[in-house]
Amino acid sequence: MTYLRLEGITKHFGNFIANYNINLSIEGGTIHALLGENGAGKTTLMNILCGLYTPDHGQIFLQERPVKITSPRVAIEQGIGMIHQHFMLVPELSVTENIILGTQLNWRLNLSQKAKEITAISKSYNLEVEPLAKVRDLPVGIQQRVEILKALYRQAKLLILDEPTAVLTPPEVESLFAILRQLSAAGQTIIFISHKLEEVMQLCQTVTVLRGGKVVAQTTTRESTRQELAELMVGRKLLLKLDKSSSNNPYQGQVILEVNQLQVKDERQLLAVNDVSFQLHSGEILGVAGVDGNGQRELADAIAGLRPVTQGQIKLCDPSASTTQDITNWPPHQRVKLLKIGYIPEDRQTMGLVIGFSLAKNLILKVFKYLPFCRRWCLQHQAINNHADAAIQKFDIRAEDSGIKVSQLSGGNQQKVVLAREISGEPTLIIAMQPTRGLDLGATEYVQQCLLAQRARGAAILYISTELEEVIAMSDRIAVIYKGKIVNILDNSNVNIQHVGYLMTVGL
Ligand SMILES: Nc1ncnc2c1ncn2[C@@H]1O[C@H](COP(=O)(O)OP(=O)(O)OP(=O)(O)O)[C@@H](O)[C@H]1O
Ligand SMILES: [Mg+2]
Repeated sequence: MTYLRLEGITKHFGNFIANYNINLSIEGGTIHALLGENGAGKTTLMNILCGLYTPDHGQIFLQERPVKITSPRVAIEQGIGMIHQHFMLVPELSVTENIILGTQLNWRLNLSQKAKEITAISKSYNLEVEPLAKVRDLPVGIQQRVEILKALYRQAKLLILDEPTAVLTPPEVESLFAILRQLSAAGQTIIFISHKLEEVMQLCQTVTVLRGGKVVAQTTTRESTRQELAELMVGRKLLLKLDKSSSNNPYQGQVILEVNQLQVKDERQLLAVNDVSFQLHSGEILGVAGVDGNGQRELADAIAGLRPVTQGQIKLCDPSASTTQDITNWPPHQRVKLLKIGYIPEDRQTMGLVIGFSLAKNLILKVFKYLPFCRRWCLQHQAINNHADAAIQKFDIRAEDSGIKVSQLSGGNQQKVVLAREISGEPTLIIAMQPTRGLDLGATEYVQQCLLAQRARGAAILYISTELEEVIAMSDRIAVIYKGKIVNILDNSNVNIQHVGYLMTVGL
């Protein structure tokens, strides 16, 4: 029986149409994929279902009953639960407190009783959690379990998961899929949003593809291929293959970055990078493969100057001037001013961008003090806007104009803004951390081609990603990081994916 049906749903933001005349129906007890490029309108449509936005037109039916979802509370009453793209838990509260938040209207709260209830629910769904643990101390995979339990505690019958796997490690993805299959077998209806088509093929039965706010296809995974779904999303043929021709820049192969016996501590003052040494050359991509949390973040931050080094050296060479500088203790502003380092941080929203600033201002964050953007301590708006217009053209950033706040751009376009800023100065060294996280296929292809073009120009690139296939596709050599140590550096020409996977999880 049809569990959810949408008829003619339309949603505008000002003049912009985010969802247009959406018709969609989902059978009860199935897992349905919602696909589309960055900005296609997936999250907007789901936010309408969970009462965060009201549609301008259209009707929602639950089990063929027309419903009006005017607030999140109404959505919960109707049995709709959403696990958002960015989690909405309170880190300082315990698992139990997070799960019952907003449901307990009685003035006398018996927390230990509630913790027992939650243990019982978590056992019955095979979703093990520690009810008294603080959410901030839990790994992301477990935090997500808390989000799912929170929805189930509110008796959700329709579960919406907005890009749930973007932040998970492969074993966490496996365990999430087992949970979702079990929930669907028990009768829950699930909407699953992901940019990773192999996940969709593995998990989902039916698919809706959105493009530019409209439904362009409703199909099943059985009757489509990955390539077909990809092309429906993007509306054009995709290469799905990278052009990694060799670079012939004049400094090809010369050392650009030298890291010697580096030690870096994390926030808790524990050793996160332990005795790491490597060299990175002009025209080379050195991939860093590892399970999340094995020191990648601290290594990238230390090279960019955002985290102190407790031992060891970082040296940067400029082959055009035949100089080598020891930059180990240089502050970031000095690195920005004198050296050409581009840094694409892992979290674009907190580290890569000032989310409340305009697109144009975000593009000059590193150079706003200098001509032509600043003259006699005054920002030169004409120059800033011209610079932004050129970047919008060159990097194909989809935005109405350069004055738009970056918070209003979709994920893929936010990433293009970071990329445009970090590579526009033709850096000699680029540190790219999870540069395609949360991006659709078209934007992923674009970011990767851009970095390969930088490699061909002669840049040295440190490419850090938890997606093993991506690291292998992009890199010339692959360094495997495990518990803060580089356990091996392999040449890409004879690399074996199983072997790298083994090194990543076992270290030897
Ligand atoms: N509150 C808002 N105000 C103005 N525009 C918005 C707002 N929310 C979303 N948009 C715009 O609506 C479009 C659809 O955004 P939405 O977040 O639904 O995309 P998405 O398909 O979820 O993309 P992604 O894969 O990047 O998450 C985007 O172009 C976005 O800029
Ligand atoms: Mg989204």
